[in-house]
Amino acid sequence: MAEKPHLLYITRKEHFNAAHKLYNPNWTEEENDAVFGKCANKNWHGHNFNLYVTVKGHPNPDTGFVIDLKILKRIIGDKVIEKLDHRNLNEDVDFMQGKMASIENLAVEIWKQIEPELHNCHLHCIKLYETESNYVEYYG
Ligand code: NI
Repeated sequence: MAEKPHLLYITRKEHFNAAHKLYNPNWTEEENDAVFGKCANKNWHGHNFNLYVTVKGHPNPDTGFVIDLKILKRIIGDKVIEKLDHRNLNEDVDFMQGKMASIENLAVEIWKQIEPELHNCHLHCIKLYETESNYVEYYG
């Protein structure tokens, strides 16, 4: 009897630095300060972001790979890191235009950038750390 195909999850970690502010233009300055605190600072602030991209699939019998990590690195580099690293998330990033620059929204938009590029495997999770203590996970 043939062995059941194994489902595996493989993760690539990447890093980028970016600036943002959390500021709702429909609110007063007092309301923004009350909700966003230091993150509403008009003159921006930065974070060292860590991004974990997890892909799931069955290993290819010829390579043993769910995905060639060189290819995953290139996809994340071209579609995400190149657009975010050393940028202002509110102003410089095409896929964040008109959105609040929270890690929640950023994780969803990163998913949309990467998912269409994957073949023979599926995006499982985008995990995005804004600080050592704060991170978000998105499963599509
Ligand atoms: Ni922040």
